[in-house]
Amino acid sequence: MAQLWGGRFTKETDQLVYNFNASIGFDRKFYRQDIQGSMAHVRMLAKQGILTEDEKDKILEGLQGILEDVENHRLEITEEYEDIHSFVEANLIQRIGDTGKKLHTGRSRNDQVALDMKLYIRDEIREMDGLVLELLRTLQKIMEENLHTYMPGFTHLQKAQPITLAHHMGAYFEMFRRDRGRLHDIYQRMNLCPLGSGALAGTTYPLDREYTAKLLEFDGATRNSMDSVSDRDYLIELLSAMSTIIMHLSRFCEEIIIWNTNEYQFVEIDDAYSTGSSIMPQKKNPDIAELVRGKTGRVYGALISMLTTMKGLPLAYNKDMQEDKELTFDAIDTVKGCLALFTGMVSTMRFRKDRMEESAKNGFTNATDAADYLVGKGVPFRDAHGIVGRLVLYCLEKNIALDDMTLEEYKAISPVFEEDIYEAISMKNCVEKRNTIGAPGAEAMSRVLEENRKYLESSSADWV
Ligand code: ARG
Repeated sequence: MAQLWGGRFTKETDQLVYNFNASIGFDRKFYRQDIQGSMAHVRMLAKQGILTEDEKDKILEGLQGILEDVENHRLEITEEYEDIHSFVEANLIQRIGDTGKKLHTGRSRNDQVALDMKLYIRDEIREMDGLVLELLRTLQKIMEENLHTYMPGFTHLQKAQPITLAHHMGAYFEMFRRDRGRLHDIYQRMNLCPLGSGALAGTTYPLDREYTAKLLEFDGATRNSMDSVSDRDYLIELLSAMSTIIMHLSRFCEEIIIWNTNEYQFVEIDDAYSTGSSIMPQKKNPDIAELVRGKTGRVYGALISMLTTMKGLPLAYNKDMQEDKELTFDAIDTVKGCLALFTGMVSTMRFRKDRMEESAKNGFTNATDAADYLVGKGVPFRDAHGIVGRLVLYCLEKNIALDDMTLEEYKAISPVFEEDIYEAISMKNCVEKRNTIGAPGAEAMSRVLEENRKYLESSSADWV
């Protein structure tokens, strides 16, 4: 057991208590950020005359050594330390002696852990944003290639009206674009540095908190020391944003699973992203899509856990907050993994345009257009709706499509029909005539694609 706080204790900590309390098993994940934060802190202390230049240089050198040794596996982060902060400090003292004991001047583990977590989350948000961006690029490519690929659009999972594959993919493009917006918002709101807040009440040392913040590329210092050490709002926001991301992925996966069935055959998932059955030789299962859908529960669970952990916590820091790490790390790793796999699956998936178009032709997806045709000939829409309803009933009995009816059959139901009905209800017309903002017509979709292109071009990796 290696602890930072033995002074006022007369007994050793019980081993079970020690294990229960320790966080090294998971906060080792942000050793890099812990060292990065300590380096900034030490630079600030020296600038303020709290440490000498010489002490600063010694500590920085020691911290750099620890960082390199951990990265190169020369130094192992072991369970013998309570947390990552103790590990780094103890190692520093081992390396450079008593000067190392000055590192923690004007700092508490409460503001230190608040900083570490923010630094870690900032890095993760950037990375996640990059993965969402990659997915958007993949979707844009599919859209560009399928402006005229007709398929049925559904409501209630019943065929409704014809759309295009580009339009369908475009719906997801919008969702994931909003997801990026949420990640950016969170980053901006959380980007204030808590270091220098101490345990809860600041410190009497003349710290320059703005300077530390600047060194760590924050927009400034947090404004209330009690809030600084007990704010986990940004984690709740991130877990909520990630829940939305994985909800979007899950919806998409559900569609892919349906489209990949023998009944639909709209898509074929690449062999590399499918799995077989141990007993049924014919099987090619969409396991990846199912797993992404399945992991959604886990991310939602993390959000609810975090909200519940924070509920009723008095100010300021409480040990309950240590629970923020495992669940947030797990949710982040899960969402990042799902994004990467999903993008890989979609970009290698084969779209069966023939099957999609064939399916759009059946199921009366052009019934609305037949009604609109009658409206064009002066029939009030409500009457037109009734007439087309009778047409559909007639077709159902004969097991044919609207396109297969003869003009005589049409006229028997309403004399308003003329030869131009066939053109009016053709798949091409049904889709291509819909060109209001946001509609599936190629003209409207081209404008969207153009706008998307500009958006994607302006999205660079260093976005904040
Ligand atoms: N491991 C702790 C956490 O993750 C670090 C802060 C500890 N502070 C304290 N006063 N015990 O929240």
